[in-house]
Amino acid sequence: MSKSFDVVVIGGGPGGYIAAIRAAQLGLKTACIDEAARPDGRPALGGTCTNVGCIPSKALLQSSENYEHAGHQFAEHGIQVKGLSVDVAKMLARKDKVVEQNNDGITFLFRKNKVDFFHGRGSFTGSSKTAGADGIEIAVAGKSAESLLAKHVIIATGSNPRALPGADFDEKSILSNTGALAITEVPKRLGVIGAGVIGLEMGSVWRRLGAEVTILEALPVFLGAVDEQIAKEAARVFAKQGLAIHTGVKITRVTNKQTITVEYTDSAGVAQSATFDKLIVSIGRVPNTAGLDAAAIGVKLDERGFVAVDEQCRTNIANVWAIGDVVRGPMLAHKAEEEGVAVAERIAGRYGHVDFNTVPWVIYTSPEISWVGQTEQQLKAAGIEYRAGVFPFMANGRARALGDTTGMVKMLADAKTDRILGVHIIGPMASELIAEAVVAMEFGASSEDIALICHAHPSLSEAMKEAALAVDKRTLNF
Ligand code: FAD
Ligand code: NAI
Repeated sequence: MSKSFDVVVIGGGPGGYIAAIRAAQLGLKTACIDEAARPDGRPALGGTCTNVGCIPSKALLQSSENYEHAGHQFAEHGIQVKGLSVDVAKMLARKDKVVEQNNDGITFLFRKNKVDFFHGRGSFTGSSKTAGADGIEIAVAGKSAESLLAKHVIIATGSNPRALPGADFDEKSILSNTGALAITEVPKRLGVIGAGVIGLEMGSVWRRLGAEVTILEALPVFLGAVDEQIAKEAARVFAKQGLAIHTGVKITRVTNKQTITVEYTDSAGVAQSATFDKLIVSIGRVPNTAGLDAAAIGVKLDERGFVAVDEQCRTNIANVWAIGDVVRGPMLAHKAEEEGVAVAERIAGRYGHVDFNTVPWVIYTSPEISWVGQTEQQLKAAGIEYRAGVFPFMANGRARALGDTTGMVKMLADAKTDRILGVHIIGPMASELIAEAVVAMEFGASSEDIALICHAHPSLSEAMKEAALAVDKRTLNF
């Protein structure tokens, strides 16, 4: 006998678990299926983000930054540190604890919101198509083997790391994000393929802990999606920190023996070779539909393997929706969450909306990089007239007190209407500062609106106000 639900969510990552909670809050009888397990077999709810993504990477970024501060920055504050050392095992154990707290938090939230959780793999079955008025059939295989009937299904099965041809992940020498977050000893020579978000974040962690880090990037430009002025500043700062970033390379061969040798041609087309103790491959991610058996019900995938959806996250099959990394759009936890909420609202007959133009991006390096809206190069390409205001953290009192004056806030506003079109930050706490820009853009604010708002002194947020003033060429502190 199948168990019936209004909504069954397949996948308990940030997209799926949030969708399930919101659906349950809206009075819908909701189940969530997730197959991830901890080493002892308990559920590991939270998806890539919680287990091998956002949360553990930020835990290690924090630990490694603390170490770097103690080794290099405390002295200028008059604090002497003797006998500084890293206990990698302890650092990893702390990271694992942070992850577990998040896993348990989601289990608690499911209980609190009355979401039924099934631990196992969810797949459409041959009879999904004909289940008809009673719903769509989902088989759960694994710990809680069951047959479920759903009026609506939300696919939230996420993504997996893309492997480099000829260099399969073994998670010992050639590492995906999973292995990169669990290196037990600081490698002497760490190679990273791909200077994207993971490459820069994980490269920063292991560089701070003492590895020599070389990053090999295929594209000729560094951080091509980032505003050029910000990307240029980032390249300068990262080079100064000791991250060796080579752009325009073409990997020709990877040999994984005692050590890993990467053969490649450099930007001038000259053959090169580099040997590493560990190699992180971070060249993007691919949608995960393995195990879902989408074909059993006829759910269409696009040419790149993503579940094909319309703007509202509807698939080609009535009452089957898909959200998060498994569909088009940025692979970000908060984008997955927003889509999850919007779909739950739509299923409940309410209004749901996600504005892709105001989805913020953050790269958690030091300095952090964040942005929302359009870059200067995008505005130029679109022929939109704009005014730009830039304010350097060097001229911000709080940044000086923190001893962290690298970078700037840059605001781009429409030349005629003054509406904010984009905000780009490189600098301390850029991840937090960007929130003001997101709010401003959601409310259709002008740069003058931000310039007229009272910002606390001394605070980093004053740099946002000053960047807004800079749009009108009237900064007060620069
Ligand atoms: P996922 O989180 O991938 O979750 C999918 C879940 O579905 C998994 O638990 C999986 O086990 C389960 N599943 C799959 N198939 C089935 C099935 N058939 N049956 C049952 N269960 C199934 N994003 C940010 O916004 N900020 C960050 O700082 C950030 N840092 C990151 C760092 C790293 C190293 C990585 C790899 C990613 C990071 N991301 C970050 C991206 C973020 O993790 C993803 O965008 C996000 O997890 C996508 O959420 P999702 O719910 O779509 O899928
Ligand atoms: P990415 O798309 O950010 O970067 C991949 C990089 O690899 C690109 O610069 C690409 O040009 C390069 N590349 C591709 N093929 C290559 C090859 N053969 N040789 C050399 N370089 C090659 O992907 P990444 O870093 O793997 O991360 C995946 C996704 O996870 C991100 O796009 C992001 O959506 C998410 N993420 C988000 C984070 C955040 O929000 N702070 C942190 C980490 C990941």
